[in-house]
Amino acid sequence: MTGSGTEIYQMKQSEVKARIDVLRVQIEEHNNRYYVLNQPVISDFDYDILLNELDTLEKKFPEFASDDSPTRRVGSDLTKEFKQVEHTYPMLSLGNTYNEDEIREFDNRVRKTISQPIDYVCESKFDGASISITYKNGVLFRAVTRGDGNKGDDVTSNVKTIKTVPLKISGKDIPAEFVIRGEILMPRAVFNKLNEERLKNGLVPFANPRNSAAGTLKLLDPRIVASRSLDCMVYFLLAEKLPYDNHFDNLKEAARWGFNVAESIRLCRNIDEVIQFISYWETERKNLPYDTDGVVIKVNSLSLQKELGFTAKSPRWAIAYKYKAEEASTRLLSVTFQIGRTGAVTPVANLEPVLLSGSTVKRATLHNADQIALLDLHTDDMVYVEKGGEIIPKIVGVDHSSRNENSKKIVFITNCPECGSALMKNDGEANHFCPNYLHCPPQIKGRIEHFISRKAMDIDGLGEETVDLLFNKKLIKNISDLYDLRMDQLIPLERMGEKSATNIISSIKKSIDTPYHRVLFALGIRHVGETVAKTIASRFKTIDDLINADVEQLTNVYEIGPKIAASIVAYFSDEDNLEMIKRLKSAGISFSSGSESAPSGNSLQGKTIVISGVFLEHSRDEYKDMIERNGGKNSASVSGNTSFIIAGENMGQSKKEKADSLGVPMISESEFLKIIGKE
Ligand code: IVH
Repeated sequence: MTGSGTEIYQMKQSEVKARIDVLRVQIEEHNNRYYVLNQPVISDFDYDILLNELDTLEKKFPEFASDDSPTRRVGSDLTKEFKQVEHTYPMLSLGNTYNEDEIREFDNRVRKTISQPIDYVCESKFDGASISITYKNGVLFRAVTRGDGNKGDDVTSNVKTIKTVPLKISGKDIPAEFVIRGEILMPRAVFNKLNEERLKNGLVPFANPRNSAAGTLKLLDPRIVASRSLDCMVYFLLAEKLPYDNHFDNLKEAARWGFNVAESIRLCRNIDEVIQFISYWETERKNLPYDTDGVVIKVNSLSLQKELGFTAKSPRWAIAYKYKAEEASTRLLSVTFQIGRTGAVTPVANLEPVLLSGSTVKRATLHNADQIALLDLHTDDMVYVEKGGEIIPKIVGVDHSSRNENSKKIVFITNCPECGSALMKNDGEANHFCPNYLHCPPQIKGRIEHFISRKAMDIDGLGEETVDLLFNKKLIKNISDLYDLRMDQLIPLERMGEKSATNIISSIKKSIDTPYHRVLFALGIRHVGETVAKTIASRFKTIDDLINADVEQLTNVYEIGPKIAASIVAYFSDEDNLEMIKRLKSAGISFSSGSESAPSGNSLQGKTIVISGVFLEHSRDEYKDMIERNGGKNSASVSGNTSFIIAGENMGQSKKEKADSLGVPMISESEFLKIIGKE
């Protein structure tokens, strides 16, 4: 941090300019990591130190101030994938404070402008991704991310899948058009479960619930968003005419309309009550189901808010108080590099055990090579470990002053520690990976573990340990070897009796009947998760169709982007994979969408059916296919001829109105599946 004022004045003009340039580049880089990549490498506190230093320099040397500076612009989450929409009211950020003195300074500043007593509203500062939702005539019209503060990404279809965001509201005094702002959150329990699954599938886990919520909000498939149980807490209502003249009553009114407003919200008569609120929630917040990282303090009266106004970046009538994340300092012993199922390399810090938030921490994640470089990490360094919402603690800083002379710079490995192959890194991806897909042991074992997992082939009796054993004894080298296993090979193994061996063999046999889409998922093709596997299985009816598909045919399928397409093509251009599939086929595994997944018949003979909305059980293509297989006709628009509509979540408003006016029945996806005898 830049020191006292005199120190700053002793800097030469050229030094100041150079420092300002460095800070701006660093802050922009951190903004990009936080808002776009959702992979920050420093704590909010350290980020604020950099921003403060820049702000101080720009104030003392106004000749170097610039409208482009990150001190005047909010960090941007804009991406290329979404349509960008202008905010009716700009979305600003908040000034941060970290101690009681700074809160009292804020109160003094407010009272300098306003001489009457001031009521403050205290709210939790939710740690998620901010959202601005517009309602017109009581109906959700549009949901937009903060973006660069002036325009944001249109993520309406994703936000519509969030259960705590009402699609339609009713009540008194609802403005014809209003904007409600809030935070999209991922409850900690959902986050933990999601990360467990990601780890199991060889994917890099999300660092914390905030990154996970922000990442989910930017997914291109609303069905996946719907499956992630996001939540939304609102904290700001905007309209030409609001029901009340103060923030507190307006939020309470929004709660009556059906929005989620935190119960912790409190009206405080003075700054001492504000400070009490902050200290009460410092520990109590850990009992909330989602992460909060501070408290937001707002002047309650709307007319006083107006009088106080805004700076370029934030309101003068509100401030955030940030709790310091629980941190401990310990020594870095070494860094090891782990290889996941997909070959992704994760650096892990081995630490001198230290007590943090009630548990002993021995290891911390380092995310990737960039973070190691940014931290300029050396062995024996004293490092700060932080535990936020994440399962694994992370290293957030290094005490460079206490560096031992003999300590060595941590160098990111160039070769895989397991198989020796030279590591690679794709443009735009943060992680290195080992390209030795076929022969790198943890990748092979990881793929076998994924193949047998419950959502894939669901082979009972084979755990991680047994896979290890079978692999080490060279009984299995890839997934197709499983189907050649014999009792006489299993029985002599350690801790294996006749009973366990019988179980394993029969459960492997049973897995032959696994439906095609699950077999596709089980293959462990990079970027092909459960949902994508279902989509491709319904579009490419046999594995040969899929093997012969090129990138263009694949990207023509709704929801398949170039990254997934390239990965599928690469997988099937590998001779060894083709050989393995041949063996799985001869073991009897089904590689086509046969009758199991789509019953056929004539139960829909003569019916014209419209599909609308977002579905959870099957993709729209699958429903189209089911209609045709059962003698029905699929139509895109509702008319007098429509027999019924299969209505998913958030079905289009115009279709709904038309169906109501024509008296066309609407049925849910499960009712439909019952009709065709699938469920
Ligand atoms: S009010 C003009 N209230 O914090 C004031 N913001 O650092 C608008 N946030 O972008 C913000 N909880 O994403 C407000 N109770 C709360 C909040 C909150 C979380 C976020 C929000 C905002 C950021 C500012």
